[in-house]
Amino acid sequence: MINIAIDGHVGSGKSTLAKGLAKKLGFKVLDTGAIYRGFACAFKDKGYTEINDATIEDFVKDAKVEIFFEGELQHVLVNSKDYTAFLREEEISLLSSKVSPYKVLREKVKQLQREFASKYNCIMEGRDIGTVVLPNADVKFFITASEVVRAERRYLQYKDKKDSPSFEEVLQDLRERDYRDEHREVAPLKPASDAIVVDTSNMTLEESIDYCLKTIKSLVKSKNM
Ligand code: DC
Repeated sequence: MINIAIDGHVGSGKSTLAKGLAKKLGFKVLDTGAIYRGFACAFKDKGYTEINDATIEDFVKDAKVEIFFEGELQHVLVNSKDYTAFLREEEISLLSSKVSPYKVLREKVKQLQREFASKYNCIMEGRDIGTVVLPNADVKFFITASEVVRAERRYLQYKDKKDSPSFEEVLQDLRERDYRDEHREVAPLKPASDAIVVDTSNMTLEESIDYCLKTIKSLVKSKNM
């Protein structure tokens, strides 16, 4: 199977890029953040009041995660409950960033990720795909953009919604999430030593898709792409 790893910062455009590339290549995309978000939903549902080693271990020991696709939509089920509709809620963004540093939970997600990569030609998108989950991926990208550009992209997404945050609030939230992603003990966000770093600050989506597509085609020549 051909496996492409895409890691990067919040708001760097990696999800949209992954979807665009998958369409051109006819590959599947696995959004691994959605799996952590699904776990966060189920953790909340179970009514835990604290996040610590004991509560996470208790939760993970019998948590069963499944994914399936409806067209392009990736569904995430934990203990047979479909949480897809709740994954993008603000509270879940925060909670997923707090539960995702725990090793036992990451190990469970890793199993599912590796199984997926062994079955499909895929683009797997997350924070630790090139460094931990698929160290032998055929191509690894690390996508980034300046803090201000990433905050602007996020701000524009929320702007017309009710109770939308100010630009300063979006920027502050982004800084906190970057800090947590980059400084956690287990699988911190960083480019793999063999990753191609792509700064999308001054690139349109089409330009970043074109650039990555050319790179993939030149690096995966032997597999008849
Ligand atoms: O990419 P996202 O915002 O949907 O990710 C949700 C959370 O999960 C985020 O706090 C980072 C974490 N995450 C992770 O730790 N490892 C991954 N491979 C993907 C996401």
